[in-house]
Parts: sequence; structure tokens; C-alpha cells
Amino acid sequence: MEGAERRLVFVSNRVGPLSDEGKAGGLAVGLADALRRRGGLWFGWSGESSEAGLAGDLKVETHGNTELVTLDMTVEEAEGFYLHYANRTLWPLLHYRLDIAEFDRQSDRTYRAVNRSFAERLHPLLGGQDLVWVHDYHFFYLGAELRERGHKGPLGFFLHIPFCPPEILGALPASLDLVSAMLAYDLVGFQTDTDRRNFVSFCVEELEGEELDGGRLRVGERVIRAATFPIGIDAEGFAEFATSEEAREHEKMVLGMAGGRAQIVGVDRMDYSKGIIQRFRGFEQLLEDYPQTQGSVRFLQVAPVSRGELEAYADLRTELEQIAGNINGRFATLDWTPMQIMTRGFTRRALAGIYRAARVCMVTPLRDGMNLVAKEFVAAQDPQDPGVLILSRFAGARAELSAALIVNPYSSDDVSRALHYALEMPLEERQRRYHLMRQKVFENTAARWCDGFLEAMEECARQSRADSEE
Ligand code: ADP
Ligand code: F6P
Repeated sequence: MEGAERRLVFVSNRVGPLSDEGKAGGLAVGLADALRRRGGLWFGWSGESSEAGLAGDLKVETHGNTELVTLDMTVEEAEGFYLHYANRTLWPLLHYRLDIAEFDRQSDRTYRAVNRSFAERLHPLLGGQDLVWVHDYHFFYLGAELRERGHKGPLGFFLHIPFCPPEILGALPASLDLVSAMLAYDLVGFQTDTDRRNFVSFCVEELEGEELDGGRLRVGERVIRAATFPIGIDAEGFAEFATSEEAREHEKMVLGMAGGRAQIVGVDRMDYSKGIIQRFRGFEQLLEDYPQTQGSVRFLQVAPVSRGELEAYADLRTELEQIAGNINGRFATLDWTPMQIMTRGFTRRALAGIYRAARVCMVTPLRDGMNLVAKEFVAAQDPQDPGVLILSRFAGARAELSAALIVNPYSSDDVSRALHYALEMPLEERQRRYHLMRQKVFENTAARWCDGFLEAMEECARQSRADSEE
């Protein structure tokens, strides 16, 4: 279909919101930015459960040029698919946490059945020319299920989280099925070259695949493309948020609470992959190793509760509150409390104001697909007086934001040293590092990410048409 623009169809577990609401999660933010520009259909879970579940009525909402279509799940579907397989099996495994990944046959079955049901409900809504772009680890099997139902149009898949090495993925009892199912997509996208390499290695080592030129990969009869597309943010839009009235109010409140002290912030979904415990330890070590910082810094951690039904997440909350309480108990004086932890959500404008108030932002995940907080922090800064970004070497964003202070998040020595260095950093060095990062964040935006992926999908579609005409 040359010339005319194909309809864009996004599939992801979470759908929306399209507006500036307080919603934590990089995927929702990234897709909403892209859909606001181009329009299309966004299909996924309503987030609710009902008796009919995936067999129930479609819920349709129209917002300008975009249609949001969602389905409920039954309690059993949501538990097996989302809580168990997606978040107790795949999430830890793909974040290199084999030690806490749980494997069981029943949730594997439910996960596949839910992928099948989503395909069954989506297939009648699709035209052969649609660009169908499936997102994230909830839907590894969806493409294969659509193909089984006769879908011939282009199918793309993007993984927002890391793809672990074959040595780890191989522990998943269904790893061969799962990676084989990914081959139903024409284009498979990853956040970093490391993730892409891990996927290709699995295909080569376990499925007798062969790497061809141009990022193509042959496994048996199938030739697909595997490529890297680092996700970005709407940088201009976020920078505008940072100077909005609401942002200014929040900036003022944070600075008021800091009372002239240097403000350190962390902003993360409350997830063990974000390294918040280790970050707190690093902050504690700063106060120990550099006693002059006692009374002169303040640390605000914003950590909205996420997946709170899961034990690992509930335990994390308890532990974080305990550690913060201990640090405060140990170091507080009558006129100074070292740290504060907040679990509420903020609007994006409010969040931009919080970032802008920060002298230092700590983004120290133990493993992260990209980490959009790092990019938002950069976009929100005042170019004349920018804050410093401390960034984990294990965040996908590290590839682009190498001008940040890069740390090993497991080492509290490293984190405490970086914090001290950041607090002492002269304005000139702050500006120099900021400008290098700003360039990357404003260049590789959400729009560019989306366009790049879609162009590559169009190319795959042209290629497969040419192959079938041969
Ligand atoms: P993940 O996708 O694992 O949650 P990211 O850092 O890529 O990690 O994305 C997190 C997104 O959630 C960011 O866009 C961030 O602004 C948003 N977010 C984090 N905390 C809050 C909060 N308290 N209120 C609103 N949005 C939040
Ligand atoms: O970006 C990673 C991601 O897992 C998304 O897929 C997800 O929507 C978001 O984080 C928040 O997690 P959840 O949807 O489980 O609340």
C-alpha cells in the first residue's frame, strides 16, 4: 500500500490514558505520546475483572483520532496471566533475577490462553493493511496466534523491558516455545543492543538460527528483522510542563521543604528492579562518609505503589519504609529530617516541577529496559542552572546518557562518592554534562522512536511482499 498511510494498531496490556494524568509506567507514557500525534486503535486490558472476562463485551472509547478498545479478564485470567506469569515469572527473569522467578505449568497455560483470547477478539477488528504493533512481555504469543487466524499483514513487536542472556532465559521451561512464537513477528524491537544481542544469541544457540545482513535473522523458514529502537519522550512537551504554573508551584513547595539545602530526588514505580533499597544505602553512606552533608542535603523519594498484590512488592514497601525510618531516626536533628518517601502519583506537570527543584536525581536501577525518568529529568532542567543525573550502568538510558555520572548501583561506595561529587559539581561542569544529555533527549524523542519503528515495519512489509511475488 504505497502512498496512503496504513492504520496504526497498538496492542498492550495497559491501555491509556492519553491525557496528562498521574500514571506511573514508561510504556503508557511512551505510547500515549506517539498515538496523540498519529491516531489509530489501542487494544488491551481494561484493568478490570468481570465474570465474562475476555469473552465479554468490548469497551470502546473514542478520543479524537484514537480509539481505545479494551476487554475485562476474569479473576482467574488476570491472576494467571498478569500477576503470576507476567509478573512473577517473566518480569524477574527478563530483569536477570533468576533467584526470584517462579515457574509453574498452570500460569504458563493461562498466559498462552489469554494471548489466544486477545488474538481471537482482535482479529475481526483488523484489516490486512493495518500496521499491528504489539508491546511488551505480556504478549509474546499474540503474533503467532494472529497468524494462526490467518492474519497476513505486517506484525511488529517491541519489548520495553530487558531481554536477558540465553543462560538465564534457558531456565524458563517454555523458553523455546516463547522465542519461537516471537518469530511470527516481522520486526522485533529492543531498547538496547545488549537486549538485541541476547535475543539473537538465543535464536542462534538454541534454535539453529543464522544472523544475516541488515539486522535480519533466519530461523528455519522464517526471516525476520531484530533491531534496536531506544524509546524517547516528548522532550519539548515535557520541557514546557516544567515551566507551567503547576510545575512552578511544586518546584516551590519542594524547595521550601528543602529550606536552602541541596535537594536529591528519586522517582520510580515501587519495584525491586529499580534499586531503591541500594539507593537508600548509598544515601546513608553519604551521610556517614561525608559528615558535612548532614544537615545540608535532603532526599525525596517518590515511589508510587505498583503491583502491590504481589508479595515481593508488598515486602519492598515495608523494607523501604523501615530503612527510611532508620536513616531518619539515626541522623535527624530537631530542625532537619534527611529523607522523605511518598507513594502518591503526580500529574506530569507536577512531576516536572519536582525534577526541576532537584540538584541531583538518582536513577539507579539494578536492571532497566530504558528508564524514562532519566530522560524526563534532563528535559525538565533549567539550562542555566541544571541539576546532575546519577545513572546506573544497568539502565538502558546509559547508552545515550553517558554524560551522566554513571554508577554501579550495587556499590554503596560508588553511589555515595557520586552523590558527593554531584553535590560539589561546579556550575560549568553541570552545564557541560547537561547540554550533552539534552541533545540526546531532544533528538531521540518518542515521535522519532515511533516513526523509526513504523518505517522499519513498512520496510519489512515491502520486503515480504517482494519475497512472495518472487
Ligand atoms: P517503568 O516503565 O519501569 O515504570 P520508566 O522510568 O521508564 O519505568 O517510566 C516510569 C514512568 O512513570 C515515567 O514516565 C514517570 O514519569 C512515571 N512516574 C513515576 N512515578 C510517578 C508518579 N509518582 N506519578 C506519576 N508518574 C510517575
Ligand atoms: O514499562 C514496563 C511496564 O511493565 C509496562 O509494561 C507496564 O505497563 C508498566 O511497566 C507498569 O506496570 P504494570 O502495568 O504492571 O502496573
